[in-house]
Amino acid sequence: MIYMADTADLSALKELYDFFPLEGVTTNPTILKQSGMKLSEAVEEVARIVGEGMIHVQLISTTADEMVKEAKKYKSYFDLGDNFYAKIPVVAEGFKAMRILKDTGMNVTATAIFTQQQALVAAKAGADFVAPYVSRLDNISSHGIEVVRDIARNMNEYKLNTKVLAASFKTVDQIYRVSMNGSHSATISPELLLQLIKHPMTDISVTQFLKDGEGLYDVSF
Ligand code: E4P
Repeated sequence: MIYMADTADLSALKELYDFFPLEGVTTNPTILKQSGMKLSEAVEEVARIVGEGMIHVQLISTTADEMVKEAKKYKSYFDLGDNFYAKIPVVAEGFKAMRILKDTGMNVTATAIFTQQQALVAAKAGADFVAPYVSRLDNISSHGIEVVRDIARNMNEYKLNTKVLAASFKTVDQIYRVSMNGSHSATISPELLLQLIKHPMTDISVTQFLKDGEGLYDVSF
């Protein structure tokens, strides 16, 4: 499982990168708006924190030609090399842009995915990651986990190199269930990443070990 942080909250990101084995960061226009930063500042600051980690930047153009121009501009402007991923919505112009960009060697993440077919078409268009939105599906009385499971199954059955990047989580249980249903990766808010590793029994056990070990560890280090 590849863990990524779905945020542009710099202090939360710094705290997480200190100990959590994260491999990248995803952003979208809403995340950017919440951060209070413009794109250039946000990406530069995030890059400082994640080092060699992936940075997935969502495009805002609406035609394929503009998307291609936008992605190429960001790639050279931010100078992130292979760590830069152009995040492209799965609309008709987006699929067209994915194919063109893949031919130039650009890394592509297909986003705003709500069906198995959208993911399969994006994979066939060359996307490196496909991002189905779990909570947004659950919230319209659909089944986010089932969509993730079907997409993961397709990627394996058709021997596609595309990875499922499950996204849009509101609970730790959703993350547990995408992990158990074949998702290769997940992008998660800082709050949920912290909750993922919490268990009251861990805290109780550690407290007990510390108490029991008092005065017994006589090898200095
Ligand atoms: C990730 O790529 C998506 O932009 C994000 O996970 C959407 O999450 P939300 O439904 O919580 O906004």
